[in-house]
Amino acid sequence: MATIIDGKRISQEIKEELKTKVAKLKEQGIEGCLAVIQVGTDPASSVYVRNKKRACEYIGIESRSYELAEETTEEELLSLIRELNQDARVNGILVQLPVPPQIDENKIIQAISPAKDVDGFHPQNVGALVSGLPGYVSCTPAGVIQLLKRSGISIEGKNCVVIGRSNIVGKPMSLLMLRENATVTIAHSKTKNLRDVCRQADLLIVAVGKPKMIDASYIKDGAVVIDVGIHRNEQNKLCGDVDFDSVLAHVEAITPVPGGVGPMTIAMLMHNCVKALTR
Ligand code: GUN
Repeated sequence: MATIIDGKRISQEIKEELKTKVAKLKEQGIEGCLAVIQVGTDPASSVYVRNKKRACEYIGIESRSYELAEETTEEELLSLIRELNQDARVNGILVQLPVPPQIDENKIIQAISPAKDVDGFHPQNVGALVSGLPGYVSCTPAGVIQLLKRSGISIEGKNCVVIGRSNIVGKPMSLLMLRENATVTIAHSKTKNLRDVCRQADLLIVAVGKPKMIDASYIKDGAVVIDVGIHRNEQNKLCGDVDFDSVLAHVEAITPVPGGVGPMTIAMLMHNCVKALTR
């Protein structure tokens, strides 16, 4: 029987640990505040932002909302970030992505002080990850590592295939797996014989962004499959990049969608926010 990895339970466990930590820090007079910036009203972004603020409230840190108009200029957003960088009461800054097309996402990411970059997107934090130095790690990949570790799944020495090479997931995910001593392959849209590459994987991490693309024909028997994708199908039901029903009989363990990787992203954001209080 395959283990279905319960991301909801594990994320809750992490948030409970953080709540305790935050209460102890409060006793020492250390309090935190996360500034959450959303530009425009994209409904998916609004849901993520709401969940992030709720998680802050749950673990006991303040969140400050900045809801900016769709037409906000790059300079206006940069100016707000500069202000928050200087504000000693704010220890974390998060700009929900994507931003509207008139704003250069890279400029925004680079404007956030690396010390307040709780998303772990700033090149200085990415560079720290590459070099094995301390810094903030991107939340979704960090969440995948916690899912595996807290489910008792070993990483060391395993063949790990990561499908996807985005800055937010694929690249940091590969680096974290390498740090955990996996043998890592990064596959992507130009990879030849993707099926054969995936069939070598003891650990398959899927972040392709295509609903149910990965079926049983991609799976080595007994593999562990982590599904980072999230989509809504025609019936408005959530599904991942993996065809869960097709692969279930072939895997040792798998994350469901919803309730797998998704809740972990916010738990690890909270982890980074608590880290921001003490560094
Ligand atoms: N958009 C999609 N995922 C993320 C994330 O992890 N952080 C931010 N800021 N925006 C996102």
